[in-house]
Amino acid sequence: MPTKRQLFLSHVAQTSPYPMIVEVERAEGIFIYDVNGKRYYDMDSGFSVSSLGHRHPAVIMAIEDQLGKYLHTTVYGEHIQSPQIQFATQLSRLLNNRLQTVYYTNSGSEAVEVAIKAARKFTGRYGIISCRNAYHGSTLGAESLRSDIGYPSSFMPGMPGVSHIDFNAINQLEYITLETAAVILEPVQAEAGVILPKKDFLLKLRQRCHETGALLVLDEIQTGFGRTGSLFAFQQYQMEPDILLMAKAMGGGLPAGAAMSSSEILGCLADSPPLGHITTFGGHPSASPLLVPYSKC
Ligand SMILES: Cc1ncc(COP(=O)(O)O)c(C=O)c1O
Repeated sequence: MPTKRQLFLSHVAQTSPYPMIVEVERAEGIFIYDVNGKRYYDMDSGFSVSSLGHRHPAVIMAIEDQLGKYLHTTVYGEHIQSPQIQFATQLSRLLNNRLQTVYYTNSGSEAVEVAIKAARKFTGRYGIISCRNAYHGSTLGAESLRSDIGYPSSFMPGMPGVSHIDFNAINQLEYITLETAAVILEPVQAEAGVILPKKDFLLKLRQRCHETGALLVLDEIQTGFGRTGSLFAFQQYQMEPDILLMAKAMGGGLPAGAAMSSSEILGCLADSPPLGHITTFGGHPSASPLLVPYSKC
């Protein structure tokens, strides 16, 4: 009889040659318990997902409440579903800026794809600039934003039109031009080693995007939902993006992501052609009632 470990290694696709192989029985708060009752401090918290801890009671309550009503009906822009409205309205009130409309996705990478497509369509431009050493996800578009040679070269050719600047390099902002559709970056570079923006970098970047008409996209997929001390990191830098990307902790443990922007920018995906970007499960009712718990924690 094969062990679960053997079945895991033979039948579940591996993402690295060195899996942790913790056989999870349950998880609560900051702890994971394995099948032998051994308790682990979950120091990676599912790669920035479990910011509220595992199975936070308010999260479980919100999910259970929703499961008693409906699980899935058409999610994208056809049916009026309270969890989607509640989350989007509450988030726009909390941010209280031009970011007032939410496009729901299932993951961070998909939110990045939404931003690239919306920026290209809205500006009618092609160029995308990202920062060296950034990580924005593993779909081909998001992967194409990476600069480190090893990763992109294995999967290339990727998406054309991408170029890079160094994070924090104010003297490279001149590479943002009238041909740039969007600049996409993390306000704090995460995978690159937790690199904070230097004083003025984000402000100068914001200014350059205004001057050239390029959209500024902030990837807060990892920094969002309280990880830097404010709901989103950009709120500490006296500026705001044109498009804000979120995922990971957003779903409280369920898969959820979003691109948030003005209705003008995101609205361009609805027309000419209609259904310019769609997703079968993005904004799933079980995964989008969860700002409620954030406000109670
Ligand atoms: C900054 C950043 N952007 C995007 C992503 C991709 O998100 P997902 O894995 O949900 O597709 C990640 C994931 O680690 C991330 O850290």
